Amino acid sequence: MNQPSIGVFDSGVGGLSVLRELRSALPGAAFRYVADSAHAPYGERSDGCVTERALRIARELRNQGATLLVVACNTATAVAVNTLRATWPDVPVVGIEPGIKPALALTRSGRVGVMATRATLASTRFAALLRAQCGDSKVNVHLQACDGLAAAIETGDLDSAAVRSAVERHCTALRERDVDTVVLGCTHYPFAAHHIRAAMGTSVTLVDTGAAVAREVVRRWKGEATSCAALTLQTTGEASVLRAMASRWLGAYQAVSTSRLHLD
Ligand code: DGL
Repeated sequence: MNQPSIGVFDSGVGGLSVLRELRSALPGAAFRYVADSAHAPYGERSDGCVTERALRIARELRNQGATLLVVACNTATAVAVNTLRATWPDVPVVGIEPGIKPALALTRSGRVGVMATRATLASTRFAALLRAQCGDSKVNVHLQACDGLAAAIETGDLDSAAVRSAVERHCTALRERDVDTVVLGCTHYPFAAHHIRAAMGTSVTLVDTGAAVAREVVRRWKGEATSCAALTLQTTGEASVLRAMASRWLGAYQAVSTSRLHLD
């Protein structure tokens, strides 16, 4: 009944930055996206809560026919991807992680900043990533827990005073560390990249891992391309915000339906 599709989710609208890359890498695939906006921001919630939400949404996407899951959220990946993989061992589950490795390759000054949620930075998964990538490296990595930034972006007004002041606050800390490369370790942050670039200066390199996730999904997706690549957008919050963000950032799309999902 439901055609095989790729299920994508995030705490809210941030995962659209990953969905944009996925759709350009796989234009013939059907996608189902869930924004858990009623429960955002995940980065300021407990691990237990984020894991429970991730399980609930993944189950819903499986029921709707998703045969591959993309956790388009650094926080949910950090906290819950192992649980998702253990729950559905036969389903490919692709997560997203802050791009420490590309940042280490790109920095010229040897000073890198990582912008991410407090929960991502506090996770054991992130600590392991940092250990594995930084090992003997001489690079200085500054971790910036960007409280308030994802929540401000989540309103859909990307030029609001709240977005600008959160960017300014966190970028001031990064400027003081004189970093030349900044990892966008939360899928919401690419939507504030224009402000981050303005605050950090044009010579800064921003690292976003959405395209790397799309390449991994291309490797693992076994579904057929369809002539009518459907896109279904669902949210536990306000459908109007998701719709507005999708039409601004996803460009032209067909067969889209946006609906309110009740998942409590
Ligand atoms: N977009 C999410 C991430 O990549 C989470 C933001 C939030 O809900 O705190 O971490």
